[in-house]
Amino acid sequence: MESFDVAVVGAGIIGSSVAFECAVRGARVVLLERQTPGSGASGMAAGMLAPCSETAEPGPFLTLGLDSLARWPGFAARVTEESGVDCELVIDGVLRVALDEADAAVVQQRIAWQRDAGVAVQWVDADALTSFEPALSTTAGAAWYASEGQVNSARAVAAIVAAAAQHGVALRCGAAVVAVDGAGVRLGDGAVVSAATVALCAGPWTGGVLAALGISPAAIRPVLGQLIGIRGVAHPPEHVLYAGACGYALTRRDGEVIVGASEDDTGFDTAVRDAVTESLTGVARRLLRDPGAVATPTVWTGLRPATPDGLPLLGSLDVGSGPRVLVATGHYRNGVLLAPATAAGVASMALDDAVPRGWEAFDASRFPRSPAAP
Ligand code: GLY
Repeated sequence: MESFDVAVVGAGIIGSSVAFECAVRGARVVLLERQTPGSGASGMAAGMLAPCSETAEPGPFLTLGLDSLARWPGFAARVTEESGVDCELVIDGVLRVALDEADAAVVQQRIAWQRDAGVAVQWVDADALTSFEPALSTTAGAAWYASEGQVNSARAVAAIVAAAAQHGVALRCGAAVVAVDGAGVRLGDGAVVSAATVALCAGPWTGGVLAALGISPAAIRPVLGQLIGIRGVAHPPEHVLYAGACGYALTRRDGEVIVGASEDDTGFDTAVRDAVTESLTGVARRLLRDPGAVATPTVWTGLRPATPDGLPLLGSLDVGSGPRVLVATGHYRNGVLLAPATAAGVASMALDDAVPRGWEAFDASRFPRSPAAP
């Protein structure tokens, strides 16, 4: 039987980052992936790095987001250098756009508490916006977060996985984990992988393993997100445009404009919804002066891992005998943003037994255990 210090389950952006960070710190790591790296939501995510634009209130989630945003430049530089794959990280600001006066009042209220909390944010009025971001259609103004940005999530996963391999991480694709027990990590083909610590980072697919460990299946559920990509936009946005519940638009390095994103409870069904595509083309038309070839978009879907209280599950589980079990999932719409901080924290837990400050709010055992709990 193969034996490792850490077995990471799931090679999305969270799992691959955890594997990378543990290996950098000297651990022998195996990365177990049911399909291929980034084949879930990580590979299709827009890659917004926007904790202040996207978070409605102060608290542990914003703190984690700010921590992770601050880590992204160093993290991206390192995995890019070690893998030769450019993550296309761009920190050139996010505009939290208000589409009407009511939304402008909400955004300005947010600016007030964020300034009190030390966040650098400026209000840009509607007139000034037309020259600041000419791609944007008519709005009621925007909050400007200069320190936020975006990363190409699919390229980031590729870079992290390749950098992890440089540090000796053993990647096993097609390895479906069915259980974790006293023997180790059990795979669907009957193989068992032995590890001192198992880190469950399989997004919505973590739920099945958690249920087998006695954690309520309600702790993690899949929520489908759909995005469109538009070519031929003559004047693409220079910054990430985020308009709250309406949606967002951002420009990739190759000029494609990504517009997102939906939220639908479809179980594990990832089929594209035509009505959602239609609605996203409406978002593009609302946000952009020039929506390019919006009538013929590329369309993606992915399943995000959601929790009942909107906070990720980060921490250890008391599972009795067998390997130590850590959980890092439930990042919902912010997995890309939160990957570097999650990886650093999980590696500290796995290798130093140190729980990061402020992670109590993300306690992995905060949901009821099922009667089958060990
Ligand atoms: N944070 C980007 C998204 O929710 O799709």
